[in-house]
Amino acid sequence: MREEYGKLDKAEMSIWECCELLNDVVDESDPDLDEPQIMHLLQSAEAIRKDYPDEDWLHLTALIHDLGKILLLPQFGQLPQWAVVGDIFPVGCAFDKSNVHYKYFEENPDYKNPNYNTRNGVYSQGCGLNNVLMSFGHDDYMYLVAKENGTTLPSAALFIIRYHSLYRKN
Ligand SMILES: [Fe+2]
Repeated sequence: MREEYGKLDKAEMSIWECCELLNDVVDESDPDLDEPQIMHLLQSAEAIRKDYPDEDWLHLTALIHDLGKILLLPQFGQLPQWAVVGDIFPVGCAFDKSNVHYKYFEENPDYKNPNYNTRNGVYSQGCGLNNVLMSFGHDDYMYLVAKENGTTLPSAALFIIRYHSLYRKN
């Protein structure tokens, strides 16, 4: 999926056009289902502008962080919800118990694959987050779109976009 969507050949549009497209998107994992997605983007950006008035790059980052959800739309392949929204997690190594909904990972074929189910799996200790593959979703897609289009946003912005769905359960 990452390879297919990494081609970035689906459409060309402005950021605002993309924000408007999100009005047709329902994220079933989002607790604020009543609000259209575009409201979520604007509220995020405005809340961050209030808290960090001088960090204009952060306002923009908030505005665009969820645009990858357009993968749910027919013109972008209408991917199922599980492939686009919800939490992301590292792949290629044992699923950590702090992953959200950990018990369901038992049904993932990688759970029993000896190449993947050790603590470090395919990675070497200390290899760095940049070398760890995460499950694909709207985070990774928007990160690719921004990066490959030569965004002038700072690397911190790309980091936020790429990992904003990476959570751990306490
Ligand atoms: Fe998101």
